[in-house]
Amino acid sequence: MEPEEVLVTNGSQQGLDLVGKIFLNQNDPVLVERPTYLFVLQSFGLYEPIFHSLPLGQEGVDVLDLQEVLNRFRPKLFYAVPNFQNPTGTSYSLECRKEVARVLKGSDTVLVEDDPYGEIRFLGEDHPPVKAFLGESLFLGSFSRVVSPGIRLGWVTAPSEVMDKLVTAKQASDLHTSLLSQMIIHCYLSDYDVEAHLKRIRSMYKRKRDLMVSLIKDEFPEDVKCTEPGGECSCGLPSRRVCPPWSYLKEPLRRRWPLYQARPSSLKILKITP
Ligand SMILES: Cc1ncc(COP(=O)(O)O)c(C=O)c1O
Repeated sequence: MEPEEVLVTNGSQQGLDLVGKIFLNQNDPVLVERPTYLFVLQSFGLYEPIFHSLPLGQEGVDVLDLQEVLNRFRPKLFYAVPNFQNPTGTSYSLECRKEVARVLKGSDTVLVEDDPYGEIRFLGEDHPPVKAFLGESLFLGSFSRVVSPGIRLGWVTAPSEVMDKLVTAKQASDLHTSLLSQMIIHCYLSDYDVEAHLKRIRSMYKRKRDLMVSLIKDEFPEDVKCTEPGGECSCGLPSRRVCPPWSYLKEPLRRRWPLYQARPSSLKILKITP
């Protein structure tokens, strides 16, 4: 990866906003996972695309379904979070990553791979990003989980013709990302033992995740199942029944429903973060 292929952003959220800005027009088809990250729906939603969605299973998305959606709707973008997805906590298997890349290669759809949590794996093996099997695509990363969310630093990588457009959009938004934040992160990365830090936070995240999963098992009704992510520490609870916290959340979420919901949706997910 060359430095010209990386744009430093105000968190990966700004990267998503810029991607929406340069790619999306009203009624453009966009593919997302179901469920997906709430704030990508808000970001992309500003440009009024038509969202299509693919259900997310334990191993990622179903590749035959993906192929069908690509043929049928020809989405401009496929937004995916293959590591410890928000809100479910699930990750794509190695096989799924390779297959997704194979199918996307034969299409006009651009992969937007969002990876804010990849460094925080505490169980299982690291897998290469889908990008590693695909080549040209967009990839977003963030220092929010690894160093600090308040520092607001992330990045997006893109092929040069897309990067030119991203840079123009970024300059129009804020000229550039705060130099002070970039200098702080630069010092942090050069002066501290980042590997030792990652080791520490991975075990902290694992402790929180173990506690959360055991409390969910003890306190929730038996038929409420949760994911047990191998990294980060948010669990998704698919629920077709009303469980106590869901009924508590229902009213405030309902007011935001048009933004929150990716069509078609029958699955309710409660995300829990300790
Ligand atoms: C999947 C996903 N993408 C992007 C973001 C935004 O991260 P950042 O703090 O880097 O803007 C988040 C934050 O929760 C997230 O869960």
